[in-house]
Amino acid sequence: MKASLERREATSAGSDAVVTGVFERGEKETSFPKSLAKEDAVAKGLLKAAWDRREIRGRRREVTVLHLPDGRRRLVVLGLGARSGFDAEVIRRAAADAVRTLKGRGARTASFRLPAFVQEGVTSESALRAVVDGAYLGGYEFLRYRSTTDGAVEEIALALGDELLRDETGLREALDEEVTVAETVVWTRDIANLPADTASPERLAEEARQLGKELGIKVTVFDEGKLREMHCGGILAVGGGSSAHPPRMIVLEYPGGSRRGRTVAVVGKGITFDSGGISIKPALHMSEMKFDKSGAVAVLGILRAAALLKVPPRVVGVMACAENVPSGTSYRPGDVVRTYNGKTIEVLNTDAEGRVVLSDALGYVVAEHHPDEVIDLATLTSAQVTALGDDMAGLVSTDDRLASGLLAAAREAGEPLWRMPLTDYHRTLVKSEVADVRNSIEIPTAGMLTASAFLENFVGSTPWAHLDIAGPAYTNEQTRKYQPPYMSHGATAFGVRLVSRYLLQSPKA
Ligand code: BES
Ligand code: ZN
Ligand code: ZN
Repeated sequence: MKASLERREATSAGSDAVVTGVFERGEKETSFPKSLAKEDAVAKGLLKAAWDRREIRGRRREVTVLHLPDGRRRLVVLGLGARSGFDAEVIRRAAADAVRTLKGRGARTASFRLPAFVQEGVTSESALRAVVDGAYLGGYEFLRYRSTTDGAVEEIALALGDELLRDETGLREALDEEVTVAETVVWTRDIANLPADTASPERLAEEARQLGKELGIKVTVFDEGKLREMHCGGILAVGGGSSAHPPRMIVLEYPGGSRRGRTVAVVGKGITFDSGGISIKPALHMSEMKFDKSGAVAVLGILRAAALLKVPPRVVGVMACAENVPSGTSYRPGDVVRTYNGKTIEVLNTDAEGRVVLSDALGYVVAEHHPDEVIDLATLTSAQVTALGDDMAGLVSTDDRLASGLLAAAREAGEPLWRMPLTDYHRTLVKSEVADVRNSIEIPTAGMLTASAFLENFVGSTPWAHLDIAGPAYTNEQTRKYQPPYMSHGATAFGVRLVSRYLLQSPKA
């Protein structure tokens, strides 16, 4: 996908499709909206005819495609729903619906009439960002293993027209920034969607090295030998079952856009396949556990965006990668492992492996890189999905400033987060009789929060935020129906947009 700013009216552009929006009409409303006058003029009255016949109601998710009398272009009218509920998220979804509808209809280029979306307090900048997100992410498909594909929209134009010409300079900057982020999400999805036979821990290390070369990011890869020297007993235990795909801890360092800036560490769970190990999972949906690396792959994407956008803080990324499979060398329930920071873990369930690999990664990054704050991303618990669903992530944090910064970035980026509590109740539950902590409490209570209480043991006093992205990290046939249309089939790269935005907004000193 490509995007450009266009000064002309969308209706006079040469694109294969003109895309506009309309609010929901009242039951008794008959008069044709003035806001669609330009569209109706190029449609030579056909739009008004459809309106008069009540074929267009402006309801949310309604998409109307008319052919313009020039016989070549299409006009796409997106329902925006009631004015009262209108915001950037409505635009993001509508733009995604537009490119998805145009797929396979021979439209290669689409001009969005930006003024149609600058309404009800939504600024031209946030409307533009939402259209870019919706079009790039909604139009995304994982094509690597497909031999055929329907023609899709490849280029969008954001048409300013007279109404928005005065905003041109600012909008150009916003467009560059948003396109960089959206392209990075697409890039991240392409890696996150790779199945486990291909995306081994070493392959993820290779992706990191490649990225490092391209963007001047320092990349260090710790293999099994090195992990043993470092006493990373957690990641070694989890990865121990797979001799074919041994574990890796991958560290990426972006130096920061401002000298003597803050350091933000971003840590990701990178289980390239989570079979559950000896505590094996049921077969149904097990294939989805190829997405259990989504946190680590998001870290890769976040570092890419940080370097391309030259965000102010120094950013250290850590990807904790291992394959969790059963074999004669797998770790077992009952085992006790010693982690990087010296704390020991009683393993009660080998399927609670995410927290075990993260223990080393968190312990390592706070001890060796002295970050001002740590953010981790992990498809950690099914309890997150039960509590919050498939469209938002759970946030657990020991630091109110960090938490509110992330919540604000999440709101702007359109990647929702919901903060959950962490109390002594959860801390008590993860205590062990034989080790410092246990990785499973074996009763179905507050699973997301006991997992968080476990992780807290490895961050010391560093301000920390944990994002449990189990729900929104990927979609499947069932959840797709309810998830926003910009969450494409498979990996969504959830977290990249929100953490990139957070880093962009991070103070310079
Ligand atoms: N990777 C899973 C969590 C998960 C489940 C992610 C569903 C995405 C969708 C994780 O490793 C896991 O299996 N967690 C267990 C922990 C339990 C054994 C304490 C869970 O949540 O059931
Ligand atoms: Zn698991
Ligand atoms: Zn897992």
